Amino acid sequence: MLGAIIAVLLGLPAALAQSSACCQTLQDAGLAHVLYPNSTEYANRTLSYWSVSAQLSPYCIVQPICTGDVVKVINTLVKGPDCSTTQFAVRSGGHTVWSGSNNINNGVTVDLGLMKNVTLDKNTSTALIQPGARWMNVYGALDPEGWTVPGGRAGSVGVAGFLTGGGNSFFTAKVGFACDNVKNFELVTAAGEVINANADENADLWQALKGGSGANFGIVTRLDMFAFQTGNLWGGTATYNKTETAKQIDAYVKWTDNVANYPDGSSIIFWSYLPTLADIVILAAYEDTAGNEAPAGFDNFMAIPRIGDTLRIDSHKALTDELEQATGYRDIWFTMTFNNDAEIFTKIVELNEAFVYKWKTVSADPDFVTQCMFQSIPTVFSKHSVERGGNVLGLDKVETNSIMLLFNIAVKTADEEALARPLLASYGKQMQDFAASKNGLVDWQFMNYADREQDPLASYGSENVEKIRAAARKVDPQGIFQTKAPGGFKISRVGTEAGAGVEARALFGRVAVDPEAMVNISNL
Ligand SMILES: Cc1cc2nc3c(=O)[nH]c(=O)nc-3n(C[C@H](O)[C@H](O)[C@H](O)COP(=O)(O)OP(=O)(O)OC[C@H]3O[C@@H](n4cnc5c(N)ncnc54)[C@H](O)[C@@H]3O)c2cc1C
Ligand SMILES: *[C@@H]1O[C@H](CO)[C@@H](O)[C@H](O)[C@H]1NC(C)=O
Ligand SMILES: *[C@@H]1O[C@H](CO)[C@@H](O)[C@H](O)[C@H]1NC(C)=O
Ligand SMILES: *[C@@H]1O[C@H](CO)[C@@H](O)[C@H](O)[C@H]1NC(C)=O
Ligand SMILES: *[C@@H]1O[C@H](CO)[C@@H](O)[C@H](O)[C@H]1NC(C)=O
Ligand SMILES: *[C@@H]1O[C@H](CO)[C@@H](O)[C@H](O)[C@H]1NC(C)=O
Ligand SMILES: *[C@@H]1O[C@H](CO)[C@@H](O)[C@H](O)[C@H]1NC(C)=O
Repeated sequence: MLGAIIAVLLGLPAALAQSSACCQTLQDAGLAHVLYPNSTEYANRTLSYWSVSAQLSPYCIVQPICTGDVVKVINTLVKGPDCSTTQFAVRSGGHTVWSGSNNINNGVTVDLGLMKNVTLDKNTSTALIQPGARWMNVYGALDPEGWTVPGGRAGSVGVAGFLTGGGNSFFTAKVGFACDNVKNFELVTAAGEVINANADENADLWQALKGGSGANFGIVTRLDMFAFQTGNLWGGTATYNKTETAKQIDAYVKWTDNVANYPDGSSIIFWSYLPTLADIVILAAYEDTAGNEAPAGFDNFMAIPRIGDTLRIDSHKALTDELEQATGYRDIWFTMTFNNDAEIFTKIVELNEAFVYKWKTVSADPDFVTQCMFQSIPTVFSKHSVERGGNVLGLDKVETNSIMLLFNIAVKTADEEALARPLLASYGKQMQDFAASKNGLVDWQFMNYADREQDPLASYGSENVEKIRAAARKVDPQGIFQTKAPGGFKISRVGTEAGAGVEARALFGRVAVDPEAMVNISNL
């Protein structure tokens, strides 16, 4: 009210004045860390978003330091004076690459970056992890104790977004997705209540948080994970000339069908354009989580001549520090899933190369990076998920061993991003269309890799969409997290055009899973 009066007196737009006043209300509520654009801390937090595309300009950033602070933040943002029209965003690691998932212009960003404690309780084999921890903090705390949890494969990735988005780790073949290893989520609801979600308490919410994105339910303030003892792992990266493409594809298809027999193994391969080489090379990340050096499961890969490698016995942390990727770019990601089929795989690699050379004719800037990355999604993954209580990823409906693609480009400027987005989308669509033409397109998009124009929640199937909706309705009946916190993949937007661009969405050509839940894209 006061804010509105001041706005009139100063001639400011009412919404703007109210939002800055809302930041003051947060301070008045006793929150010590409210950062304004004129501070170096604000600049630091902005720069700490992995993708430049996600570096927006909120009115202020509020950093709670404990669950009680998060309650204050929520109560203020939802009911506080001068906050009624203020929207907000929630951010943990800040690794989602697209603009508006984890940050906001003309609003307040709740930044969990000061909540990053990691506590290991060996008696109950549980690691209690605060949401703003990065996986390097988690492994840094657990490695010296000889314990670990399944988590990010690049150390800088954040815990809460990763786990509530599913989380593919080195250990998925052994223990299911990382989210399947969350025993309990502590969550602050839109009503400012602190609740727990686990197998015994709020079990529906527990399942929904395993893949349904925290962004639909509240603010996750602690994640308790089943931890286990481990020694060092074997692994690292290997580099190959792109002339080895056919051999790599052959080895990877065989690998994918063998994952169920070799649950200690993990293999990711990608074709990457690197500015330093000005060409595409093949990179592979191999790991044996039991610490066996190049066991037989890797024979097909080991037989391919390589340019070099860093393969060795090392800690979980060291191996994930190594897989860090260049920051300082604007990133566009796209994901799809296809049958474990060499013909489709080969076509995608060819289309990726065509994309790279096309981009070179569109942009004069040689400083860009691309990845065309493949990860096995065999059916054994979701068997483990079901054993551990189930998640909402919907992979149990996929009956064939599959491969997930992450196809992406990193560019330097906003203009280039605007040019690259439709180009990447059109190549992504060609990849999808080819897979569909061979009856090999799998209707599943992994949220952690999905672009804002994709609809991963819809791809999890109507039953899971309904589970997520029901859990969201129950915990947040007013839909505060659907409207006042607009960022992220929202269950209320499944099958709608509410993402940023109908055009790009049409280009990506969404995969209809549940005709009733989907809007016919031809009619958008
Ligand atoms: C270099 C790199 C490596 C990666 N490696 C992997 C990998 O190995 N496996 C994999 O599965 N994925 C990987 N990813 C993808 C990554 O898991 C997602 O980007 C994930 O969202 C990152 O988590 P975050 O905490 O940083 O999320 P943020 O970007 O901070 O948040 C993601 C979404 O979750 C919401 N959210 C965040 N925190 C909370 C909270 N506490 N409560 C409620 N909602 C919240 C946000 O509002 C946002 O919508 C990688 C990404 C990068 C950039
Ligand atoms: C920064 O901005 C805030 C909010 O507008 C203001 O209260 C504060 O005095 C400013 N600090 C400096 C150092 O200018
Ligand atoms: C900002 O980050 C820089 C470099 O990481 C660091 O040296 C500096 O202390 C930080 N400043 C603040 C105010 O956090
Ligand atoms: C996190 O750890 C720090 C340092 O050990 C401690 O001071 C703080 O109270 C802890 N915070 C929470 C919420 O447990
Ligand atoms: C763990 O168990 C040991 C031995 O039973 C006991 O002494 C210790 O207090 C327990 N620690 C915790 C954190 O419960
Ligand atoms: C790959 O092999 C080709 C042909 O032998 C060679 O010209 C090229 O330099 C090699 N590339 C790398 C990165 O080694
Ligand atoms: C989508 O709409 C178009 C145009 O109205 C129509 O031809 C097509 O059959 C519809 N597809 C489905 C799956 O309903």
